[in-house]
Amino acid sequence: MKRLPIFIALIALSLADDINPRKFPKTFKLGVANAAPQIEGGWNEDGKGETIWDRFAHKHPEKIADRSTPDVACDSYHKYKEDIALIKAMGLDHYRLSIAWSRVLPTGYTDKVNKAGVEYYKNVFKELKENDIKPMVTLYHWDLPQPLQDQMNGWLNESIVDVFGDYAKFAFETFGDDVDWWITVNEPKQVCQSGYGTGGYAPGVVGSGVTDYSCARNILLAHARAWHIYNELYRSKNKGKVAIVVDASWSEPGSDSDADRAAAERATQFEVGLYANPVFNGDWPEVVKRRVAERSKMEGYEESRLPAFSEREIAYLKGTSDYLALNTYSTMMVSAAGEAPLTASFEHDKNVRYWAEPDWPKDGPWWFYDLPWGLRKFLNWLKRTYNNPEIVVTENGYVTGDDTLEDDKRIHYFRGYLSACLDAIYKDNVNLTAYTAWSIMDDWEWTGGYTSFLGLYKVNFTDPERPRIKRKSADFFAGVAKNRCLLDPSECID
Ligand SMILES: *[C@@H]1O[C@H](CO)[C@@H](O)[C@H](O)[C@H]1NC(C)=O
Ligand SMILES: *[C@@H]1O[C@H](CO)[C@@H](O)[C@H](O)[C@H]1NC(C)=O
Ligand SMILES: *[C@@H]1O[C@H](CO)[C@@H](O)[C@H](O)[C@H]1NC(C)=O
Repeated sequence: MKRLPIFIALIALSLADDINPRKFPKTFKLGVANAAPQIEGGWNEDGKGETIWDRFAHKHPEKIADRSTPDVACDSYHKYKEDIALIKAMGLDHYRLSIAWSRVLPTGYTDKVNKAGVEYYKNVFKELKENDIKPMVTLYHWDLPQPLQDQMNGWLNESIVDVFGDYAKFAFETFGDDVDWWITVNEPKQVCQSGYGTGGYAPGVVGSGVTDYSCARNILLAHARAWHIYNELYRSKNKGKVAIVVDASWSEPGSDSDADRAAAERATQFEVGLYANPVFNGDWPEVVKRRVAERSKMEGYEESRLPAFSEREIAYLKGTSDYLALNTYSTMMVSAAGEAPLTASFEHDKNVRYWAEPDWPKDGPWWFYDLPWGLRKFLNWLKRTYNNPEIVVTENGYVTGDDTLEDDKRIHYFRGYLSACLDAIYKDNVNLTAYTAWSIMDDWEWTGGYTSFLGLYKVNFTDPERPRIKRKSADFFAGVAKNRCLLDPSECID
């Protein structure tokens, strides 16, 4: 009897530390990410145009946690060589960054090119090439040129499909020889459901359940336009790949009941399927179409608030993602909820209840729970749902409650999530080919300002030099890149 508790304690310990000992496949890529509006600064320098996030932060400081702006951020506009040197020192394969649309095309249109902006990105790509680091390049990381919002209502106007297509063609033409991995749009769910739905994000348009769906439709058609342009004009020459990034927390059924399992599936279809199903299968997910149509009818709308795709559009959309790009950070429990009040709303259409177990590990006031099994389940769901596509994790990382350099909790998170990737690859045959940690350094986290810490490097934002200061997790990640394994090299298995 005396020995039993010790035995149980040992099992609990070994389960908690159940790290996959396999080495990553030889072709597997490890990298770090960030995005122009969060690190570049230089918001109006050398001819860059204003973006909707510049405007949002300047006009509505009350909406930003620390009333800050992205005006200088990490000053990567001037310090990109230093950033690339950090990535080189960590021994990483790729750097995910974004082109600021308004830095190369200040008005959003191709009739006015900002040469200094083009030069900047040419220099960044040259520096990456010299350091043998592959760029993974996002065309739209939320930073719409402000004139496109003012003049045409941004993503709510279907004409933006042409405007974005022109920008994408310009980027493929100008930078295509430097880039193998293209991403059209980062997290369209945040752009549409927050930017044009709740209004919590720039440009602050409110119209959940109506305008967010128009945005989704236009953003998907714009993505498809860019993919077709690349496919027809650049693929044979540049041999790159083009995808759209979807994002969500994993939705775990709150119980084994059919209702809770259906709720979790519905949540993932509204969060991920809304954007992934059109590009993989051509149309909105069935459950989304059904729910929005039913509720629209009950609410007295003459037709569904979810604008339909025509047969021609379905054919145009289908097959326009060369890989599945996923941003994910956490997991939530999802249970069925009673029917919501009859007002148009994305959340009411989805109609689920989210909750977290009280003992789930997290740091600070955030919703970032350290639950690696959520990532493994998510990868398996994507494999099943989209017919085993190539999958790239384009963002994954952990918020700590303060800006400590001794970030053992972040290391714990990365080790567990990378182990979940190995399990998915080797035990579940998920075709996961790359993993990208968010973030290379602390940055301007949108409405979180400079108060949300996700970096492998800390940045001192009160120092005009914006020094990058190494955290313990940077050494951990460098070790993973070097050994291609999560344990001591002597314990690693090929
Ligand atoms: C949509 O964009 C076009 C082209 O810029 C513009 O002529 C039109 O007025 C816009 N429509 C709305 C409703 O903003
Ligand atoms: C995974 O995807 C890559 C890129 O599309 C492909 O070359 C490879 O054959 C796939 N691997 C498997 C096991 O399906
Ligand atoms: C940040 O920089 C400021 C200005 O140089 C300096 O006073 C402060 O001590 C620095 N903070 C940290 C935590 O290094």
